[in-house]
Amino acid sequence: MIEIENLHVRFNSDKGVVHAVRGVTIKVAQGEFYTLLGPSGCGKTTTLRCLAGLEGPSEGRIVIGDTVVHDSAKGISVPTFKRDLAMVFQSYAIWPHLTVFENVAFPLREMKQKLREPEIDRRVKGALELVQLSGYESRPAPFLSGGQQQRLALARAIVREASVVLFDEPLSNLDAKLRAETRLELRNLVKRLGMTALYVTHDQTEALTMADRVAIMRDGVIAQEATPTEIYKRPVSRFVASFIGQCNFAEGKIVQAARHGVPGLISTEWGNLAYASDGRSEGEDISVAVRPENVFLADDRTRPEMPRISGKVTDIVFLGESLECKVTLGASELMTRLHPSSGVAVGDTVDVVVNPDDVAILAA
Ligand SMILES: Nc1ncnc2c1ncn2[C@@H]1O[C@H](COP(=O)(O)OP(=O)(O)OP(=O)(O)O)[C@@H](O)[C@H]1O
Ligand SMILES: [Mg+2]
Repeated sequence: MIEIENLHVRFNSDKGVVHAVRGVTIKVAQGEFYTLLGPSGCGKTTTLRCLAGLEGPSEGRIVIGDTVVHDSAKGISVPTFKRDLAMVFQSYAIWPHLTVFENVAFPLREMKQKLREPEIDRRVKGALELVQLSGYESRPAPFLSGGQQQRLALARAIVREASVVLFDEPLSNLDAKLRAETRLELRNLVKRLGMTALYVTHDQTEALTMADRVAIMRDGVIAQEATPTEIYKRPVSRFVASFIGQCNFAEGKIVQAARHGVPGLISTEWGNLAYASDGRSEGEDISVAVRPENVFLADDRTRPEMPRISGKVTDIVFLGESLECKVTLGASELMTRLHPSSGVAVGDTVDVVVNPDDVAILAA
């Protein structure tokens, strides 16, 4: 379990004070895989370093398990080596002069309470087996592939049997294919060990595929926290929507409010859209977001009450598994992703529809 309460970090630099983390509050449940996602410089690493005790917060409180490891107000700060956590960084920080075995044994040999050699042997071999590096014990660490080095770093992190593991972009040094394979492997391993994970990345696919919950961070603040599905389907702001995947945006006005499961109507620069979520009133100015894959060509099966948007196809990009089409409607445009068999061509006039459930209304 991890709890971060109202964390602030200020750095003094030659350009003045940098307020890198501005009131971050996060609760990660026991055994949860939690991801911090955001653009470069938004404060992800700084937040992680505070958890590890490598950075001093200017304000806030941090709890790991049952222990308050930091409390600015009470002057509490537990040193790094006494915190019940393991870390895996982007640069694996593997010792090049040591073998695979000795790299994993290193944190055990550093422990205050000395372990006996058979115990070290048992734990190192157990950790190597978990990351599928059994048989590599005597190999010098630099003679491993990138993916194997990444797993070695993981073995070294889990060998201490800490209850919390912190990851800072651990896969960014791997090539695309290996990164995709390792994502799932890493998540499964962390889950199997029952560890609580805080995982930092700026890669949206990593965040969506690995996390139980995602927090999107911007300028030192959490912009939205939710499950991957929720973040994707119900982004609260334009920033969140465009950071995760592609999105069409428009300004609009509520013409008829949605109530008790009956869809409402919005007028936008594209035309009218039906929407489903409650809690808006007639006449309200709003912004909407619609994913390209949720814009469909109207056909015989389209229900007659669905508002249709009519436009002209002005651009088509063939992406293999789909066609990315630009539909122009007056002065505005709408991106759609269609099946390659849809048979549209540049210059066609088309009618498109969006299901009410796929229209996200953004917070003002
Ligand atoms: N020691 C420092 N002194 C001054 N400013 C710092 C220091 N460390 C970080 N910063 C600033 O704090 C902000 C947050 O940095 P941080 O490293 O946490 O970003 P990040 O989200 O991890 O970015 P990236 O994705 O590029 O790793 C940045 O503006 C950075 O320049
Ligand atoms: Mg970083």
